[in-house]
Amino acid sequence: MTKTTIATAPIEGQKPGTSGLRKKTRVFMDEHYLENFVQAMFDGIGGVEGKVLVVGGDGRFHNDVATQTILAMAAANGAARAIVGQNALLSTPAASNLIRTMQTDGGVILSASHNPGGIDEDFGIKFNMPNGGPAPEGVTNAIFERTKTLDSYHIWQGDPVDLSQIGVTKLGDMQVNIVDPVAAYVDLMQSLFDFPAIRAMIAGGVDVRFDAMCAITGPYGRAILEDALGAPAGTVTHGTPLPDFGGMHPDPNPTWAHELMAEMMGDDAPGFGAASDGDGDRNMIVGPNCYVSPSDSLAVIAANAHLAPGYKDGLKGVARSMPTSAAVDRVAEAMGLQCYETPTGWKFFGNLMDDGRVSLCGEESFGTGSDHVREKDGVWAVLMWLNIMAATGESVPQIMADHWARFGRNYYSRHDFEAIESEKADVLMSALRASLAGLAGQSFGPLTVAAADDYAYLDPVDGSRSEKQGVRVVFEGGARFVVRLSGTGTSGATLRLYLEKLDTEQLNLDPQAALADVIAAAEDVIGIKAHTGRTAPDVIT
Ligand code: G1P
Ligand code: ZN
Repeated sequence: MTKTTIATAPIEGQKPGTSGLRKKTRVFMDEHYLENFVQAMFDGIGGVEGKVLVVGGDGRFHNDVATQTILAMAAANGAARAIVGQNALLSTPAASNLIRTMQTDGGVILSASHNPGGIDEDFGIKFNMPNGGPAPEGVTNAIFERTKTLDSYHIWQGDPVDLSQIGVTKLGDMQVNIVDPVAAYVDLMQSLFDFPAIRAMIAGGVDVRFDAMCAITGPYGRAILEDALGAPAGTVTHGTPLPDFGGMHPDPNPTWAHELMAEMMGDDAPGFGAASDGDGDRNMIVGPNCYVSPSDSLAVIAANAHLAPGYKDGLKGVARSMPTSAAVDRVAEAMGLQCYETPTGWKFFGNLMDDGRVSLCGEESFGTGSDHVREKDGVWAVLMWLNIMAATGESVPQIMADHWARFGRNYYSRHDFEAIESEKADVLMSALRASLAGLAGQSFGPLTVAAADDYAYLDPVDGSRSEKQGVRVVFEGGARFVVRLSGTGTSGATLRLYLEKLDTEQLNLDPQAALADVIAAAEDVIGIKAHTGRTAPDVIT
């Protein structure tokens, strides 16, 4: 085996988005494409000489090949050690945990999260910092700048590392530790949650269903729910990770997790249902005939986290992304907790957690997590809910009814318009931004605009500023809508419209009906139909 330096030239468009670099798999398979980005990543973080890196991914198509490339490049760039999940597998939260607990210099995570996988679908790569969290914008910008000047990369030429056996091996001078992807994560969950109480609840007849969507959490779900908590075999469905996720779209929402939804909304539904996404950081929670919106899930967890042993002293504070509903704000206010609002993307929570300001964070996009790692964590959310149910003895519908009775209900929905021509989406956003200054005081149906702006965030910890993070229009009385373009898509533009309205009296309406005024006002203000020709969203969550 030899270290080789390969000549290359900058490749356009290697700009990391909301969560790393995401492209079609075939793009990553183009000559030099992955290699260029990996070298830029290593250079952008100041080199990897003598460093220890975690490497792993969600098992999607190309995960194995890309992992070998990254290992060969890490070795050639002088890394001291790589910690790799067996068969190159690691869920994103498990990777975050290893990065933190094994005193590493960071890690490379291969995933396109909830996007479909396969040679004609999506692939992705991102760098996480030594704290276990996604690289902040300063670092991703440095990586992007480096992609523009790159003229060569370093790589070992030789046989791939056998990643099928747990143990220690070498690649050039670099040590490679191949670890069980699940074990350390199970230990971490056991340290946070009351496993005996959950086990007793399951033994007592609460039937659990966990849809792993043919993605990474199958082995984690089986080890925890079926082995450690005694749930019967078959509790975890779609439990074998597949390179193409069995053709499924591994996004845990009512549209894509429709098999689980059908079971949970049917007669004889299990007592608890949940699903997770491609890389295991998202979650959906469902009770029998009771869908829990992610924003509500965050609020319920904020109100009840102290029931879990790992959080028994209470939360330090909470944070939510700006488009996430204010349900958690109401809990924070009642409990005297500081509540932070950040731009979309988990990377903005890291500083708040590292600084000890918050211990619970969430996004409306099926993301919830705490400071046990620096990523959102799907299985963690499932266990938190099971722990709350075990501690209170209440069902999911009872927990929701109690919660809304106490705090009111923030009716909430997100409408996604997918694969819009990028140019049309850009024109729509520019026109919307241009209209903001004149909106206050205007009425749309029964709603009058109180304020409208383009959200900017000043990080209270490091003073960095992020602009243009979503247009928000707030009506008198507090109802609002938010519009932004997705930063994770790989074809055209996806327009996200987030809708919200608080009701403290009527607690059992259909969210689309409760939000009808806001939906109509949003269309009047934005003109989605006029700009794009679309009359209905592709996905409603
Ligand atoms: C989406 C979600 C966002 C989440 C991200 C990564 O990003 O909206 O909340 O952090 O995926 O899972 P978007 O496509 O909206 O930029
Ligand atoms: Zn994900």
